[in-house]
Amino acid sequence: MAARKHSAQAASAAALIWAALICLAGSGCQPAAERPPAPREQSASPEQPASDTASVHFTAAGDISMGGGARAVLDVIASLQPDLNIALGDLSYQAGVEQAFCDMVTRKLGKDFPYELITGNHESDGHDGDIGTFAECLPNRLPGLQGAYGIQWYVDVPQEQPLVRFILISPGIKFPGGQPLDYSPGSDRWVWTESAIDGARAADIPWTVVGMHTLCFSMGHYGCQPGEQLTNMLVSRNVDLVLTGHEHVYQRTRQLGLNAGCPVLVPGEARDDCVADADNSLAQGQGTVFVTVGVGGAGHHDVQADDPEAGLFAVWSGKNRDRALGTLDVMVTDSRLDARFVPAAGFTFTDAFAIER
Ligand SMILES: [Fe+2]
Repeated sequence: MAARKHSAQAASAAALIWAALICLAGSGCQPAAERPPAPREQSASPEQPASDTASVHFTAAGDISMGGGARAVLDVIASLQPDLNIALGDLSYQAGVEQAFCDMVTRKLGKDFPYELITGNHESDGHDGDIGTFAECLPNRLPGLQGAYGIQWYVDVPQEQPLVRFILISPGIKFPGGQPLDYSPGSDRWVWTESAIDGARAADIPWTVVGMHTLCFSMGHYGCQPGEQLTNMLVSRNVDLVLTGHEHVYQRTRQLGLNAGCPVLVPGEARDDCVADADNSLAQGQGTVFVTVGVGGAGHHDVQADDPEAGLFAVWSGKNRDRALGTLDVMVTDSRLDARFVPAAGFTFTDAFAIER
């Protein structure tokens, strides 16, 4: 996976377009169909130093299924031409159709496209498909991946002079035998996760993105399935972005951070002191943004505007408010992370935010 190179002109045009897409929380953003696509300059400019021009472009969505909604979201991903996609679990929702699911994906994105898997609860124990079988027909395509693909892995992209470390874990869901994996403090999987985050910092990798199927904070009906302690560990280390599925909604928290006034984030509460930055223009190192993208094709869940965690959130949409299928679309460079929600055909909800280094 080589990083795409932009000319200086294209890069500044991209920055302008991304800046224009940042819209105030709760206000109407322009539908994606009315926006120009992000520039995707393909040719390298030999005059430009690589450190100024390299970028990684990725998409992410979970809770997919095999219906028209799933195909519409795959069409959006194909049109965005990302370097890779993270599938955030809950793939086919049906046993025995793993190959058909993989065929649906490869027909839309190409057979060599890095459609990278982390398991959801529907395939972790095999009852609605088996993560091992999905991982055979949609294998890892990123060089240098460490760990167990599909279950717990990390990878630096690009492999040389990486801009982002993706760390994918599987807390809070059942595996064969009916038990969840152990991510309790001090467990092997806790230490592995902590070391992957700290290792990215030690290697001066600009951005750290953690992904998992389950979520802690939600405007829908799920509780904190990854666990309060694991969630706080991610925030204490200022992981830039945590991506999840599971709740079939799109929702984005404000940048949440720990400090003297907020020593710990408590699920079910929304304390002002825990919000490091409430708008859509963020600075790295103040905390973590959690984004649930459980709208990759399956049917929606409701969101509750009076949820006790509402004060933690910048944006939410679900079955009963701004319903949309679509994908998160993220561009990272050495100096910034720009993210937006791009809706599938027939939907208009959008979102956009940026983190600067
Ligand atoms: Fe799901």
